[in-house]
Amino acid sequence: MDNMLKDIETAAAYLKKRIDITPEIGMILGTGLNTVGAMIDNPVIISYDDIPVWKTSTAPSHQGKLLAGKIGNKSIIILQGRLHYYEGYSMQEITFPIRVLKKLGINKLIVTNAAGSLNELMHPGDLVMVNDHINWMGSNPLIGKNCDELGNRFPSMHEPYYKKYIVLAHKISKENNFSLQDGTYLALSGPSLETEAECKMLAKWGADLVGMSTVPEVIVAIHSKMKVMGISVVTNLSNIFHSEPHTQEEINTNALKAKKNLVVLVLELLKKI
Ligand code: HPA
Repeated sequence: MDNMLKDIETAAAYLKKRIDITPEIGMILGTGLNTVGAMIDNPVIISYDDIPVWKTSTAPSHQGKLLAGKIGNKSIIILQGRLHYYEGYSMQEITFPIRVLKKLGINKLIVTNAAGSLNELMHPGDLVMVNDHINWMGSNPLIGKNCDELGNRFPSMHEPYYKKYIVLAHKISKENNFSLQDGTYLALSGPSLETEAECKMLAKWGADLVGMSTVPEVIVAIHSKMKVMGISVVTNLSNIFHSEPHTQEEINTNALKAKKNLVVLVLELLKKI
């Protein structure tokens, strides 16, 4: 545990030397959403490879770059590409970036992801505010001795997704005429995709969306007492609705469809949070 604190300090100290802002907000970009990083003018760009302790992103279309700079008057760090459990990293390794963002002073986190739809009202290209989650990854990033300096042993998961942000997001979607739904995101380890039987089961459990990320990061952000917003981009229908296997191209194409609205949503949110 002492090592973890030291590791967080080492990575944070390295980033502090390289960035010229005091960041307030962190944002993680999911699959196919790299280009959202262009919202920052002239960012300082740091490769994950260069940050001590921080692991490299190996997933397709995850760039593995940290961007630091300003959007409007808000100082932000964008993680262009995330680390996944299915890459073989530990839960602690994939959530290490969240620990470092917290150490840098960030208390507000926007987590985006690409997700498959289990709900017939959620279509490819739609945006969904995550308002709850189901952790079905078979593990938890807080397993092990608790470090009280980082957070409580049993952090409450009552409303992990900050209600005020969800309300604000809906106001923005109405003002800008795009549809926005709310939904429960269920995380599996992957990397194999779900069978039809699994999708039917997950839908019965109350999940609207399925993916392979987000939940570990949100658990650690809540442990760190951050305010969290989760935004899913529906990139494909799950196997309940169609029997064609979905491809990485389909996921990337549909993520791009949602990009325009996602950028409007995030730009407007940043003015108000
Ligand atoms: N299943 C799991 N993860 C995903 C999916 C899916 O259908 N789409 C995007 N990420």
